[in-house]
Amino acid sequence: MKFFLDTANVEKIRYFADMGLVDGVTTNPSLIAKEGRDFKEVIDEITRIVDGPISAEVVSTESVGMVEEALELARIHENIVIKIPMTKEGIKATHQLASEGVRVNMTLIFSPSQALLAAKAGARYVSPFIGRLDDISTDGLDMVSDIRAVLDNYDFECEIIAASIRHPLHVIEAAKMGVDIATIPPDVMDKLFNHPLTDIGLDKFLRDWENAFKK
Ligand code: E4P
Repeated sequence: MKFFLDTANVEKIRYFADMGLVDGVTTNPSLIAKEGRDFKEVIDEITRIVDGPISAEVVSTESVGMVEEALELARIHENIVIKIPMTKEGIKATHQLASEGVRVNMTLIFSPSQALLAAKAGARYVSPFIGRLDDISTDGLDMVSDIRAVLDNYDFECEIIAASIRHPLHVIEAAKMGVDIATIPPDVMDKLFNHPLTDIGLDKFLRDWENAFKK
């Protein structure tokens, strides 16, 4: 499973990239807004930290504007992937961008039918939002499992990015399904490391060592 980091915070990206854990990065307008910095400047800085797909999202709602924005963002770096929302206009833009060789990550996917439409239009990635479905009492992981089954029946060149991840179990359950990529917020990334028995075990090793050799 590839790990993308779901953040626009360059310090956090650098922190996990230094451990060799970051295969790519996803941003969205909310994450960019949180940083309070120039959009293109942030994206450019991320491309210098991570050598992998970096998703940058358009804010136009009409396909013409989406394509214009996409082409401008794609010029920043060859690793830029354009995030396009799952709407009819978005599908139209995706079709055009794919035919021009621009990779699209279709975002705000909440059903297998939306994922199938995105793959057919030429999206290189689909991003089903797990946590936001869970929030409305609908099993987000079930949706991802259905999308996995649907895409596995065909040979679309389209990878699934498990998105809107809220806790480690989302990552592990998605990995068990063979989901290609998880885009993980930094706080969840931290939680993936933790196990109390690791801390207790290390503490005991160090104490035993200290008692035997340092006194
Ligand atoms: C990533 O592509 C999405 O923008 C992100 O995972 C959404 O996560 P959220 O539902 O926690 O905002």
